[in-house]
Amino acid sequence: MTETRRIVLSSDHAAIDLRQAVARHLEARGVDVVDIGPTTPESTHYPRHGAEAAQRVASGDCQLGIILCGTGQGIMMAANKVPGIRCGVCSDTFSARMIRQHNDANMLSIGARVVGEGLALEIVDAFVGAEFEGGRHATRVDMITALEA
Ligand code: RB5
Repeated sequence: MTETRRIVLSSDHAAIDLRQAVARHLEARGVDVVDIGPTTPESTHYPRHGAEAAQRVASGDCQLGIILCGTGQGIMMAANKVPGIRCGVCSDTFSARMIRQHNDANMLSIGARVVGEGLALEIVDAFVGAEFEGGRHATRVDMITALEA
C-alpha cells in the first residue's frame, strides 16, 4: 500500500459481513474508511448502494470506492452509471491490480458469494496498492470518459 486514501465502502444485504471485514482490514492498515452501510440484514436494493458509494467518489469526497453484492455484478453496473466512475468486478488479484494500472479504475466491486474472505482481502490490497500508469493508458481512459458526453 503506497499511500493512505479515503475509501468509501458499501454493499447490499448479501455482502454485509465481507464488507465489514474489508473495513476492518483497511482500518488496520491506516486507511481512512467511510463505510456507508447498510448494517442491518434486511433485503435491500444494490443499485441504491452502488450509486451512493459512486457519488462519494465522483464528488471527490473519497478517492476510491469498494462495493460488494452477491456477485459484485449488479452493484458494479449501478456504480458505472455515475459519470466519472470506472468500476470493475474482480475475483483475482491480477485483475484488481490491472484495473488500477491500466484502466484508472476508481472503484472495485467484489462478489461475496463468489470469493472467500481471504482472497477478497488480497484483492482489496492489490487494488488499493496499485497506481495508474498513465501514458498510452491515459489516452484510452480519456476515450472511456468521452463516451459519457
Ligand atoms: C441479491 O440476492 C443479489 O441479486 C445481489 O446481491 C447481486 O448478486 C446482484 O448482482
